[in-house]
Amino acid sequence: MSKEAIIKLDNIDVTFHQKKRDIKAVKDVTIHINQGDIYGIVGYSGAGKSTLVRVINLLQVPSAGKITIDGQVTYDNKVTLNGGQLREQRREIGMIFQHFNLMSQLTAEQNVAFALKHSGLSKEEKAAKVTKLLDLVGLSDRAQNYPSQLSGGQKQRVAIARALANDPKILISDESTSALDPKTTKQILALLQDLNKKLGLTVVLITHEMQIVKDIANRVAVMQNGKLIEEGSVLEIFSHPKQELTQDFIKTAIGIEEAMVKIEQQDVVKNLSAGSCLVQLKYAGTSTDEPILNDIYKRFEVTANILYGNIEILDNVPVGEMVAVLSGDKVRLEQACQAILAAGVELTVLKEGGQA
Ligand SMILES: Nc1ncnc2c1ncn2[C@@H]1O[C@H](COP(=O)(O)OP(=O)(O)O)[C@@H](O)[C@H]1O
Ligand SMILES: [Mg+2]
Repeated sequence: MSKEAIIKLDNIDVTFHQKKRDIKAVKDVTIHINQGDIYGIVGYSGAGKSTLVRVINLLQVPSAGKITIDGQVTYDNKVTLNGGQLREQRREIGMIFQHFNLMSQLTAEQNVAFALKHSGLSKEEKAAKVTKLLDLVGLSDRAQNYPSQLSGGQKQRVAIARALANDPKILISDESTSALDPKTTKQILALLQDLNKKLGLTVVLITHEMQIVKDIANRVAVMQNGKLIEEGSVLEIFSHPKQELTQDFIKTAIGIEEAMVKIEQQDVVKNLSAGSCLVQLKYAGTSTDEPILNDIYKRFEVTANILYGNIEILDNVPVGEMVAVLSGDKVRLEQACQAILAAGVELTVLKEGGQA
């Protein structure tokens, strides 16, 4: 991409010095995030995700590396901004968290207004802005409620309105849906997606759930033990995960793991006959549209008994996964498999017939 990334983290190290030992929470991580991205960072607890994103607004000062935000170098082995610049820069970056972090003695409206304290707006302008922000997150009718009177999803909406008070270009979401039920999670994710589209907001989305990345992100980074182990577009990562950890994350998101248990219990699979094989097919983009299985029947008289199928739309591209038993003459079966591969479909033979 020719346009310079809005967030550039280069070779970031974060080491916590403790009495007995040093903890290297982030190790030599380089991530570039483009304007308008919804960028997912996934990894298990303790992987270093929160520490890494706190580096973006220098809430966490790294031990080494270089940070460039919207063209401005903020850290180059040392902080390069003065106090005033740093405060100004932090206003450009909104943040939301798992536990909302609202002030319980203030109403929804007052919580949002609090973020405008140093905005230089008049009282009337502030009031108008708060109204606009609560409207933006769909909470106009709750302005006078205290956090204790709001549901989890509503609290997170207040927190989002507050995070957007100073018109940031970047919103960091650190496990912001982890305390919410699945339905509310979907609603909050839809709101983030909407804000991304409407405002051109760049969203950095930390989560331990690949499903969330799959739902709204366009790029994803996978972290393990402080290191970045894999990075790419959601489409690339979901269709060709390279690392074992990434594959694990994806399996839980796609549900094939669960399906495989059931598939293996089916008689047709348990007693797979000679001349049959159990295959897993994966395809992305155009090849989805081709009636490949019809085609191999016509050309090779190989039949397909589909046991599992799933199609997801990832970043506007259909990605499908299928498990099927292919049956036919031995030679023609082999030819059919070659034809499937030639059509750009990934094929893995899970089990061959006539073998134990
Ligand atoms: N302020 C801190 N002092 C010491 N160790 C910390 C601190 N913050 C995080 N850590 C350690 O750094 C590692 C990464 O933590 P964290 O960034 O919170 O991971 P994640 O967000 O992926 O769960 C963990 O081992 C954690 O215990
Ligand atoms: Mg964390």
